[in-house]
Amino acid sequence: MSERAVPVRVPAAERLAAEAGFRKSCTAEVGRLLRTAAAAKPGGVVAESGTGRVSVLTGDWRLLERHAPFDVFFCDGGGKRDDPERVVELLAPGGILVLDDFTPSAEWPPRFEGEVDELRLFHLTHPDLDATEVLTTPTTSAVVAARRGAPR
Ligand SMILES: C[S@@+](CC[C@H](N)C(=O)[O-])C[C@H]1O[C@@H](n2cnc3c(N)ncnc32)[C@H](O)[C@@H]1O
Repeated sequence: MSERAVPVRVPAAERLAAEAGFRKSCTAEVGRLLRTAAAAKPGGVVAESGTGRVSVLTGDWRLLERHAPFDVFFCDGGGKRDDPERVVELLAPGGILVLDDFTPSAEWPPRFEGEVDELRLFHLTHPDLDATEVLTTPTTSAVVAARRGAPR
């Protein structure tokens, strides 16, 4: 696959993250996935929980609630494990949810370290979502889901 140019802010942000010692940034592959989701919602309301560089909202992830509903929600920090149902509620109809940092599983139900991965199962079977798991690299995956219902 040929490399596509990344927005000029990306290398600058990567430099800042490196200088700050932040080592939890998403991969370039997940960056491409997020770019795709954002492009699907022109003018949409986009949220990310757990960002390591930007300080638009500083505090618990629930500060995002006042800006909901979201057309794209990269839930990468708070909310992902502590309140997954609320995360789904914050999506607009047709809104896209991206959850990163899974390990691909060839089994159903999906397993991680021998145990059923309840979080992945929750999203992949949620009645309000159409969801799938996509490989982001050969050894990592993300859940991508769309909330059912007519877009705003
Ligand atoms: C995987 S890193 C996020 C990486 C970032 N999204 C990126 O792509 O560069 C997860 C971050 O979520 C933050 N976090 C964890 N719990 C949180 C909460 N309840 N509210 C807000 N942020 C939280 C952590 O401090 C950490 O910086």
